Amino acid sequence: MTDQPQLRANPVFAALDTPDLDQALAWAEALRGHVGGVKTGLEFFSANGADGVRRIVDLGLPVFLDLKFHDIPNTVAGAVRAVADLGAAIVNVHAAGGPAMLAAAREAAERPGRGTRPMVIAVTVLTSLDDSDLSAVGQSVPARDQVVRLAQLAQSEGLDGVVCSPAEITAIRAACGADFKLIVPGIRPSWAATGDQKRITTPAQARDDGADILVIGRPITGADDPGAAAERIADELGQ
Ligand code: C5P
Repeated sequence: MTDQPQLRANPVFAALDTPDLDQALAWAEALRGHVGGVKTGLEFFSANGADGVRRIVDLGLPVFLDLKFHDIPNTVAGAVRAVADLGAAIVNVHAAGGPAMLAAAREAAERPGRGTRPMVIAVTVLTSLDDSDLSAVGQSVPARDQVVRLAQLAQSEGLDGVVCSPAEITAIRAACGADFKLIVPGIRPSWAATGDQKRITTPAQARDDGADILVIGRPITGADDPGAAAERIADELGQ
């Protein structure tokens, strides 16, 4: 028996990147049955708050609430408890918050007698930062090494996995083993526009490389028929 929350078979979580509640609800409705879950983040939460998240959760799809908490352990624990109460299936925190913060986040996700706990995932190094950005904030370790170090730290504090780029899957899988969940954005089906993503991979390639969850936004939400686009991706993955 594992105490890890179970994932649905379809590994695709659609990113609902909008501050507009009605738009997010319309996308989520259209995607029900075609994706494994949806991701919503700071933009949506800042505009719609906990009530907005509850409206999405109430549609019945697993929700990855991508708020990337980073604060002192007590504050992060309170925030994780609050979003667990909203019914989020996946929550995340910055691994750079350190061991005590990670342990507090993981502990706060426990919900004895109140249903399944959310999966607690760490963000390692933001992919918007390169080695020179890291050096500007006083960190001399190359980004790639820091990603693996923070993934191992998150694992040792009992977190379920990390968010990582397609290029980082192999190194983290090698360092953290088969059970550590890898949530991967930067995915583009061959038929979709690249947009501003620079280092991309296809859904099947990411899955074959070892990704557990594929976060895909605009190829789905920007399509004329988001449900059909999501279904096409599911077909390509053999779902
Ligand atoms: O539209 P697109 O598929 O590029 O959306 C990807 C989603 O994953 C967005 O919500 C984006 O913020 C998120 N993300 C990312 N790259 C990261 C971390 C998160 O694209 N390194």
